[in-house]
Amino acid sequence: MGRRHRRLTFAAFVAALGLLLAACGNGLPQSALEPAGPIAREIDSLFRVVFWIAVVVFVLVEGALVYAMIRFRRRSDDDTPVQTHGNNRLEILWTVIPALLLAGLALPTLTTIFDLAGRPDGALEIRVVGHQWWWEYEYPGEGVVTANEMHIPAGRPIFLTLESEETPGGIAAFDEEGAPVAENAIPVIHSFWAPRLGGKQDVVPGRINTMTIEADEPGTYLGQCAEFCGLSHANMRLRVIAHTPDDFEAWLEEQRAPAGAPPPDSVAAQGAEFFQNFGTGSCIACHSIEPGAGGTVGPNLAHLGSRETFAAGLVDMNKENLMRWLDDPRAVKPGVVMPDYNLTEEQIEALAEYLLTLE
Ligand code: CUA
Repeated sequence: MGRRHRRLTFAAFVAALGLLLAACGNGLPQSALEPAGPIAREIDSLFRVVFWIAVVVFVLVEGALVYAMIRFRRRSDDDTPVQTHGNNRLEILWTVIPALLLAGLALPTLTTIFDLAGRPDGALEIRVVGHQWWWEYEYPGEGVVTANEMHIPAGRPIFLTLESEETPGGIAAFDEEGAPVAENAIPVIHSFWAPRLGGKQDVVPGRINTMTIEADEPGTYLGQCAEFCGLSHANMRLRVIAHTPDDFEAWLEEQRAPAGAPPPDSVAAQGAEFFQNFGTGSCIACHSIEPGAGGTVGPNLAHLGSRETFAAGLVDMNKENLMRWLDDPRAVKPGVVMPDYNLTEEQIEALAEYLLTLE
């Protein structure tokens, strides 16, 4: 092996080790190894049992392998190993031991699966709809619909029903020049995952899956779509914001209220006017500002200004980012249904002002 080759191998080894050790950090926002609620903890406990059994198996099997390699290595050029044709005792042994291990592991695994599958007593239900590429949350019976940022009460199980919806006007393909071809994008599989609060559940077209999550303490918990669902899969983030029960009720109250009207004669008021009706169409054709109304194409915006982020958690909610978005949404989130409407600077500013008043 040349010196250069050895150096490269060493560099690759150090890089791989660095990557591996980076996974061991504490306080990572999306670590399933730091559960923040009873359901995530139950899954984590199961993982730890399986992990340590796997570690023991790995050490024993690799140990035996290394031992055999050294003990029975070729000692000279004319050294021929003893020829054998199987060993019944060994073969039965290494079939029976894994079978017993798997059967043993099936017990806690199945118990956990059945334990977590049902709808817990006193759970709050939230309907989750996966769109390309954002999340819609409906609070049944509460008259509240929001997007990407899920608000929940801490200390109470949240029973999620998860569906995937087709996106009218979604981008199904790109032409030779790379321009998006808008069609009714077929529904795709997403996966809802807030690692510190619970498991990961696929969001499959044509069926309703369920999953329960729960947070011990108020706080913000990050998550993301965990199933490749197209161009902006990596931009399909989510956050779960847990409140005290009182704060959660206050949040619901806020979200139920009608969208506020900006002060007359303000720049925001021009934006409101424009939102309802502009030259080539209107924002209202795709975005509802009625609280509780589901998205027709895009997210409900009745209380957009109360969110911390927009564009599926991609950017912070502020005027500058809203203007950047309105100027060319696809430059912020590639493949998004909303096209560049060629708005003027004044129109963009008025709309951004208006959107921020929708608290
Ligand atoms: Cu939705 Cu990946």
